[in-house]
Amino acid sequence: MKRGWLARLAPGALALLAACSAAPGDSGGRTAEGDLAAFPEMDAPGYAVLASQCSRCHAAPQPARHTADEWRRVVRRMQLHRVQRGMAAIADADVKALLDYLSRHARRPS
Ligand code: HEC
Repeated sequence: MKRGWLARLAPGALALLAACSAAPGDSGGRTAEGDLAAFPEMDAPGYAVLASQCSRCHAAPQPARHTADEWRRVVRRMQLHRVQRGMAAIADADVKALLDYLSRHARRPS
């Protein structure tokens, strides 16, 4: 029984991995202006976290890409990606600074 459960899980996990390697670039973190695009409030502590922690696997995303609520979910998912790749999760204080920053400049929910 246990093996059957695992076998059903594995293809899904593989598909997810394939999607991961394709996704970040395309519709991705990169802005129309390219990697050197200006970000809002570049002197904020949260921007420093974004620039250093969110550009390792793909280009750092613009805060206006998501609403504040969406950012909370996205950042939680990125923590999982880190752990899956053997990277330490971003420290709580840094996550807080990052989410403060992202929320301030987030897309307004329509
Ligand atoms: C360990 C590698 C890794 C790190 C570090 C990382 N990401 Fe990602 N990111 C991914 C992968 C893989 C995807 C594509 C799959 C997905 O969306 O979960 C992705 C996709 C995204 C997307 C596009 C999908 C969406 O929901 O809009 C955004 C935005 C994003 N990441 C934001 C961030 C932010 C913010 C950080 C910093 C907290 C970050 N990433 C750090 C691996 C990473």
